[in-house]
Amino acid sequence: MAVVGIVPAAGSGERLGADGPKAFALCGGRPLLEWSLEVLEAACDRVVVAVPAGYEQGPDRVRGGACRSASVREALLAAPEATVAVVHDAARPLVTRELVERCVAALEEGFDGAIAAAPVVDTIKEAGADRRVRRTLDRSLLWAIQTPQAFRADVLRRALDVDAATLAAATDDAALVEAAGGSVRVVEAPAENIKVTRPVDLALAEALLRRRTEA
Ligand code: C5P
Repeated sequence: MAVVGIVPAAGSGERLGADGPKAFALCGGRPLLEWSLEVLEAACDRVVVAVPAGYEQGPDRVRGGACRSASVREALLAAPEATVAVVHDAARPLVTRELVERCVAALEEGFDGAIAAAPVVDTIKEAGADRRVRRTLDRSLLWAIQTPQAFRADVLRRALDVDAATLAAATDDAALVEAAGGSVRVVEAPAENIKVTRPVDLALAEALLRRRTEA
């Protein structure tokens, strides 16, 4: 089994308001990407990172695509030996080795994908463009989906082999695997596995990382 980490890190990070790409914004004194990279490198045989144009220096760095899943596809193309692919967003610096390993282990139950997720704690409603509520969903069945997401690499390769519009519409890779008929299960993640999107998330991630390094 060759487990390859795939890190999409080619986003612009406009919502964070950093000077450059989000993955290279400083978080707790080092680029955001490095926190995830350290964990994935410990848990995987190799890690390929999709980076923005101009950041391709070094081994296992490939230029990202126009959208997140296009970046995943580019990185996976550079890892033909992968039998298991662990996709993890650079934007989640609090990932743990244990969580990566639990996702990979869950594939052995026969699933094509095993994805980190948190039970939804808010009430979720669907509303129209006019903000009028249409319905309230059954929260007991809902999960907020995160990364890492582990897949059988051959299944992920096939799922990513779709047109640019389908790739752009996918907010995670598991959705593409599901659309291709693959089986996916959720793996409950620790509450700390937050995503850095806005400045408030960066402040929270820094506080949680400080707590971890001081523990
Ligand atoms: O924009 P969002 O926060 O959802 O991006 C999730 C991850 O996908 C980030 O780590 C970002 O760097 C990456 N990404 C990418 N290529 C793109 C867009 C986003 O690798 N074209």
